[in-house]
Amino acid sequence: MAIAILERESAAGEKVPETNIKISVRNLNLFYGEKQALFEVSIDIKEKEITALIGPSGCGKSTFLRTLNRMNDLIDGVKISGSIVIDGQDIYKSNDVIKLRTKVGMVFQKPNLFPMSIYDNVAYGPKMHGIRNKAKLDQIVEESLRGAAIWDEVKDRLKTSALGLSGGQQQRVCIARAIAMKPDVILMDEPTSALDPISTLKVEELLDEMKKDYTIVIVTHNMQQAARVSDRTAFFLNGEIIEFAETSKIFSTPDDQRTEDYVTGRFG
Ligand SMILES: Nc1ncnc2c1ncn2[C@@H]1O[C@H](COP(=O)(O)OP(=O)(O)O)[C@@H](O)[C@H]1O
Ligand SMILES: [Mg+2]
Repeated sequence: MAIAILERESAAGEKVPETNIKISVRNLNLFYGEKQALFEVSIDIKEKEITALIGPSGCGKSTFLRTLNRMNDLIDGVKISGSIVIDGQDIYKSNDVIKLRTKVGMVFQKPNLFPMSIYDNVAYGPKMHGIRNKAKLDQIVEESLRGAAIWDEVKDRLKTSALGLSGGQQQRVCIARAIAMKPDVILMDEPTSALDPISTLKVEELLDEMKKDYTIVIVTHNMQQAARVSDRTAFFLNGEIIEFAETSKIFSTPDDQRTEDYVTGRFG
């Protein structure tokens, strides 16, 4: 199995650990009851890059993504071994899951806005965190919607139901809702798979803007999307990382035959 740990050459020509690693995963195994879904996954995720996770359906991409903010904790019978260190802290050794999920936000496959106004959807998290000042909330809502490239489309209808927006607009409001919590990391699980091509393009353009500010991990089964938006790509198969490299390498000269077969569409 590939060890997806990042290294670079020092001035003296030695291999040394890469700098600016935001998330460091080592020997991660995950079981759903008796069934093992992740096998010895080790990977480094660099700060302010977009890391794409690709691989056929059922290979563990979503499972792995959810381990990064402990969303699997919500599923009965899940057992995990190994470590995930974010900013020097092993997230499974700390019990502050609320703080973790603030730092590591998530956007899901289908837009999952609450049946309330656009404004209230974005202000919801900050309010739960105790922000009550109206001017402050107004500011967070505007900044977050701008950050998700949807402000101009919704600024005149902030108090109307979020569910009246198109699917693509709703997904960008979901991204705004994640941004409103001021996370460092945003996890996205096939965020455009329910969107039309034009909305997909808008989200992809947005991702490119967002990586100035955030570390992004995105699951996609759209290979063109991985190639367009990501800096590095990890190829998963049967719960293992087979290969992890710069995206251009994965799509042009991968080392592993299975990676090549997958990215050229021979299976999956
Ligand atoms: N809640 C769950 N309970 C039991 N098995 C699950 C659960 N979620 C996923 N799995 C299994 O774990 C494996 C990986 O699934 P998943 O992470 O969803 O794959 P992917 O996102 O790559 O399609 C699959 O075999 C799937 O059936
Ligand atoms: Mg999935």
